[in-house]
Amino acid sequence: MPTLLHARAETPMLPLLDKSKIPAHIAIIMDGNGRWAKSRRLPRLFGHRAGITSVREAVRACGDLGVKVLTLYAFSAENWARPGAEVHALMGLLQEYIVRELPELQKNHVRLRAIGRLEALPGGAQKKLADAAAATERNKGLMLVLALNYGGRQEIVDACNRALADGHAKIDEKILARYLYAPDCPAPDLLIRTSGEMRLSNFLLWEAAYTELYVTKTLWPDFRKPHLYEAIAEYQKRERRFGGL
Ligand code: IPE
Ligand code: IPE
Ligand code: MG
Repeated sequence: MPTLLHARAETPMLPLLDKSKIPAHIAIIMDGNGRWAKSRRLPRLFGHRAGITSVREAVRACGDLGVKVLTLYAFSAENWARPGAEVHALMGLLQEYIVRELPELQKNHVRLRAIGRLEALPGGAQKKLADAAAATERNKGLMLVLALNYGGRQEIVDACNRALADGHAKIDEKILARYLYAPDCPAPDLLIRTSGEMRLSNFLLWEAAYTELYVTKTLWPDFRKPHLYEAIAEYQKRERRFGGL
C-alpha cells in the first residue's frame, strides 16, 4: 500500500499524492509573466516581480514533498533579445531574489546552484550566485538549480567542446553526459510549463529525452502549491516506458 500524503490546512484542493512516487527532479519553464502583467495593464516587470512569490512557493513545496532537484528556467540564452530595460530588470530581480531568500534557503537546507553560460551574466549576479552556491554547498535538502543564460543547444555544444579539450577524440552519450552543466543531477522526471505554450524553448534538450511533460494554462505569477500538486498527481498517473513495453 503506498503511503498517501494528505492535504495541509492551507491547501484544501490538494489531491492525494502517492509519497512513493514523488518525482526526484522537477523542471519548470516559468512562463507567462508578461501576459499576467498585461492583463492587469501593468508593465511586464510587475509580472516578473509577482513571479518571485511563485518561485518561493514552488521551492517550499518541493522541499516539503522530498523532491531532490528543482530546476527553474529563469533566463534563456535567447532572452537577451528582449528590450534592454527588461533584461536589466530581470538581472536586478535575480540578485534581489538571491539576497532576500538566502536565509530561508539556508533554514530549509536548500542547496542553490546555477546552470548556463554564467560568465555572460552581469558581474554582480555572478558574484551573488557564486557566494550563495558556496554558502549552501553542504546543504542536504532540495537542490535548487537556476537556469540562467541557459540554452539546451548551447549546453550540448559546450559539453562537446569541453570533452574535446579534455582529449576525447570521439564523443558518445556517456562521455557527453559527464560534461553537461550539472552532470550529477538525475534527468528530470517531470517538466512543467506554465502559460499554455506547447514547446521546450531550448530547455534541457538532452536531459528531457524521457521526461514527462505537463503544460498548464495557469500563468507563472498565479502558480501556487495546489497547481504543483496537480501536476505531480497527473505525473503519478503516467506510465513511463522509456521505449520499452
Ligand atoms: C517568463 O515570462 C519569464 C522569462 C522569460 C524571463 P515571459 O516574460 O516570457 O512572459 P510572457 O510569455 O511574455 O507572457
Ligand atoms: C522560456 O520562455 C524561457 C523562460 C521561461 C526563462 P520564453 O517566453 O522566452 O519562450 P518563448 O519565446 O515563448 O518560446
Ligand atoms: Mg514567455
